[in-house]
This record gives sequence, C-alpha cells and structure tokens, in this order.
Amino acid sequence: MTSGPRVILDCDPGIDDAFAIFCAVRFCNLVAVTSVSGNVPITHTTTNALHVLELAEASVPVFRGAAAPLVVEPFFADRIHGEAGLGAGATPPPQADAEPEPAASAICRLAAEGPLVIVAIGPLTNIAEAVQLDPELASRVDHLYWMGGSTTVGNVTEHAEFNAWADPHSIEVVMASGTPITMFGLNLTHQVRLQGTHVDRLRTAATQTSTPAAEFLAFYESHGSRDGRGQPMHDPCAVLGFTHPELFETEPGNTLVHLSGDTRGMTEMTDSPHAGTHRITVATKAAADDVIELIMTAVIDPQARS
Ligand code: RIB
Ligand code: CA
Repeated sequence: MTSGPRVILDCDPGIDDAFAIFCAVRFCNLVAVTSVSGNVPITHTTTNALHVLELAEASVPVFRGAAAPLVVEPFFADRIHGEAGLGAGATPPPQADAEPEPAASAICRLAAEGPLVIVAIGPLTNIAEAVQLDPELASRVDHLYWMGGSTTVGNVTEHAEFNAWADPHSIEVVMASGTPITMFGLNLTHQVRLQGTHVDRLRTAATQTSTPAAEFLAFYESHGSRDGRGQPMHDPCAVLGFTHPELFETEPGNTLVHLSGDTRGMTEMTDSPHAGTHRITVATKAAADDVIELIMTAVIDPQARS
C-alpha cells in the first residue's frame, strides 16, 4: 500500500483480476474493492475478492456490486477462470465479509470525500449504477482506468471484448457521463503475456501469495488461448497504466459503443467525433517486459516486505 490518490478497484475475480489485486495492493493507495458480476456470478467474485485480499494481508473493505448487467443477461467466462473463478475447485471461505453498503453507493460516497481514481477491470455495471445514483460523479472522479474494449480484435466475438460484451449499456452510460477514461483494450493487453516459465517462477518463490497464484496461472494457461504465445494479463495493465504511466503509450480517440446485434460490445474507433461517439484516451503500446516484471514482483510480495 502506498501514498498517492485514493483508488477504488472494481473487479470480477477472475484470475487476471487476482493478479491485478496484488498489483493494486503493492502499488496503489487502495481504499476499497468493489465486486461485480462478470467472469463468474457476483457471489463468487465477491468471495474471491475477499480471499485474494486476505492472501495479500491487505485490510481493504470489499463492497458487493451488481449481480447482473444493466440490460442484457449475464454471460460468464467460467470456462477460462474456473467455475468458482479462481481456477480449479472452490475458493477457501474468507474470514471477512463484504461491507453492508452496496458498491454503487460506496463509490459515490468515496468520490464525494475527495480526489479519487477508479480502476475498473470487469464489466462497468457498478460504475454505471454509481453515475445513475450521482449524476455529478464524473466531476468527482479524477480518472477511470478501464480494462475493456478493443481497437482491434475481440475475444467473445470477432468484434467484442468480454467486459464490453458482458454489459455494453454500462459503457455507454459511463462514457456519456463525461468521466475521463483511459481504455486498456485487447489491442494493448495482448502485448503483455505470462508463460509457463512464470508459473515456475511463482512456484519457486513459494510465498503466501505466489503459491496459490501459480496454480491460478497454471489453470489460466491450460484453459486460455492455445496460440502458444502465453496468456494475456489483461487486468494488471489497467492498474499499472495508472501507477506506472511511463510504461505505456496512449492517444486520444473517438469511440462508438455498439449495444446490440452482431457487433454488440464493439468499441469502434472513429476518425472524427459524430453523434453517439465519445472522446476517450486509448492505451496503444506497453513496455511489456517491464510490465511483466512489476506484475511478478507484486504477485510474489504485494506487501513489499523484501
Ligand atoms: O477480456 C478480458 C477481461 O474479461 C478481463 O477483465 C478478464 O478478467 C475478463 O473479465
Ligand atoms: Ca476482469
């Protein structure tokens, strides 16, 4: 945990979310984690967030969020992340419970208390519900760093990335609110991949966090894309895009969010602003080797004891 702007991490753990949580504990002034339905149902994403924070020995409150997208039906990615969301088997029951306050309410309250950064690494349902709860939220959030969308390929359909596909309407609500956004889409995250050798490094490190994380990653490796290039570490890119901006290149863009039909979830980039487009910042390039080393450092030792 460090000084600096207060950070909320909104997540749907999820294996790469777990790696992102370790990065947020290590490199952010993390004041809250909010869970959202995404990779797996809300009960699992909430339990997993509590469990991973306990592995990291981080005393950070978890606020349970949306159990379903704004409009479309839930669509899970348990084939990639495991039925419970953290690889094979059930998640060990956490000691702590989630806070009684719903995630959207907690986001609005924390934003009203002072400068705040949100890093969102799942569907944007909670952020959209917070915008609907407090229309002034956009003026209270310094910046939203979002892992989602893509300026190139999809991973659910040829057009759509999972977080965007899972709740396209929430993207529209959040972008229309004027919240300043930097998008870490698949065009960026596919540059940052962990391999089997990283599983070996985590096993060899044998810390309280690296040992379970090695098994999360081994599952992810065996259930992810089989192109032999390793598995993209999507979610940590959004955390490190905030904490280590020098490792990323970005550019402004206009995006049009497709809400339905064959291109549902597409974050189409357009050359000029026109009706329905939103002005955002797009991450385009990562110093992948440096990003990977930061991820490994955080997963092995999130409390920076060594
Ligand atoms: O497409 C990748 C994104 O979808 C990541 O956030 C992953 O955790 C899943 O939520
Ligand atoms: Ca995620």
